[in-house]
Amino acid sequence: MIGIPRAAGPRRARLAALGYYAPEHTLTNRDIEDIVDTTDEWIVSRTGIRERRVVAPDQATSDLAIRAAINILESVALTADAIDVLIVPTCTPDHLFPSVAALTADAIGAYDAAAFDIQAACSGFIYGLAQAVAFVESGLAERVLVVGAEVFSRLINPDDRSTYVLFGDAAAGALVIADDDGGPSGFVGFELGADGGKGHQLIIPVGGTRHPASQAFDDADAYLQMNGREVFKFATRVMEESSVRLLARLGMSIDEVDLYVPHQANQRIIDHAVARLGIDPARVIGNLDRYGNTSAASIPLALAEARDAGVLQPGMLVMMVGFGAGLTWASCLVRFEPT
Ligand code: ACO
Repeated sequence: MIGIPRAAGPRRARLAALGYYAPEHTLTNRDIEDIVDTTDEWIVSRTGIRERRVVAPDQATSDLAIRAAINILESVALTADAIDVLIVPTCTPDHLFPSVAALTADAIGAYDAAAFDIQAACSGFIYGLAQAVAFVESGLAERVLVVGAEVFSRLINPDDRSTYVLFGDAAAGALVIADDDGGPSGFVGFELGADGGKGHQLIIPVGGTRHPASQAFDDADAYLQMNGREVFKFATRVMEESSVRLLARLGMSIDEVDLYVPHQANQRIIDHAVARLGIDPARVIGNLDRYGNTSAASIPLALAEARDAGVLQPGMLVMMVGFGAGLTWASCLVRFEPT
C-alpha cells in the first residue's frame, strides 16, 4: 500500500533481490529454419542468438510475470502482502488494459499493492527501477517489485525473417526496499531518455487508437516492424553515450564498475559498446545466445542468472544499459545489496 510520505528522515533504496521465469519450450535456430528463410549460421553470425524460449499456447505475459514475481519473493521469504507497489515494464501486455501489473498483483495476493505497467520497451526495466527508487526514497513505499515481462513471440511476423529470429519470451525482475541505516543510496545514478522522432523505426502500427484493431488492416501491420539498420545505429550510439554521460555526471570511471549488463539484443551492438567504453570483457555478463532479445526482461534475467552462477556478488557495483522502442534508452549504476 502507498500513502502519504511515511518516512521521518532520509531513507535509501537498495536492490535486495532478483528473480526470473522463462517458459520451458526452447526454439532453436534450426527450428526457425523451418519457419522462415534463414540459417543458423546467419542468425549466430549477425546476432549471437542460438535459441530462445517461447510461451505455451495457454500462456500470456501475466503468466510469466506471476511466476517471476513469486520467484523473487520466495528468494527472500517475503509474502506478497508485503509489497506496496508492483511495476511491470512491458510492451507486450496481455491486453491494452487491464494492466499486466494489476493481473499479476491479484494472482500473487498483493491485494493492497498499487500496480501499473510501464511502456519503455527494452529500456523498461531501468525506467521501472527509477520509479521504484523514487517511491522508496520519497517515503511513499517500503517495498517495490519491478518485473519486466514480455511475450514477443505473439507479435513477431512469421513472414519477416529480419525480426522473427531476434526475440524470446521471459519475465524477470527485482525487489527494491527501503533502508534506514543512513548510508548512501544503493542506486548511485540513472540516465534515461527518449526520442519519439524515431518512434516509427520500431513500431506495431495496429491495435491502439491511431489504428484500432476494429478497423481493416494489413496483417503485417499487426506485427512488430523494425528498421533494423536505423535501430542498430541508434543502439550503438546510445549504449555508449548514455553510460559515458552517467559516469561523467557522477565523476566516476568505467574501471570502478564491477559488472556491466547491456540489454541483450544483438552481440554486435554489445561488442561495440564494450570496445568503445573500454571495459574489460571479463566484467560483461549476458545470455543472449540462450534467450534472444527478451526486451524488458533481458537485463534482470542476465543479472539473476549471474547471481545464480556466483558471478554477481553482494556489494558489487553494476552498470546496466538498455535501449528500445520509443526510441528509448536508459542506464543505471547500482550496488547489489541482497537481503
Ligand atoms: N536470415 C537470413 N538473411 C537475413 C535475415 C535472416 N534472418 N534477416 C535479414 N537478412 C538479410 C536481409 O534480407 C539482407 O539481404 P539483402 O542484402 O539481400 O537485402 C541482409 O540479410 C542484410 O540485412 P541487414 O538488415 O543489413 O542485416 P544486419 O546485419 O543489419 O542485421 C539485424 C539485421 C540483426 C536486425 C540488425 O539490424 C539489428 O540487430 N538491428 C537492431 C535490432 C535491435 O536491437 N532491436 C532492439 C530493440 S527491440 C524493442 O525495443 C522491442
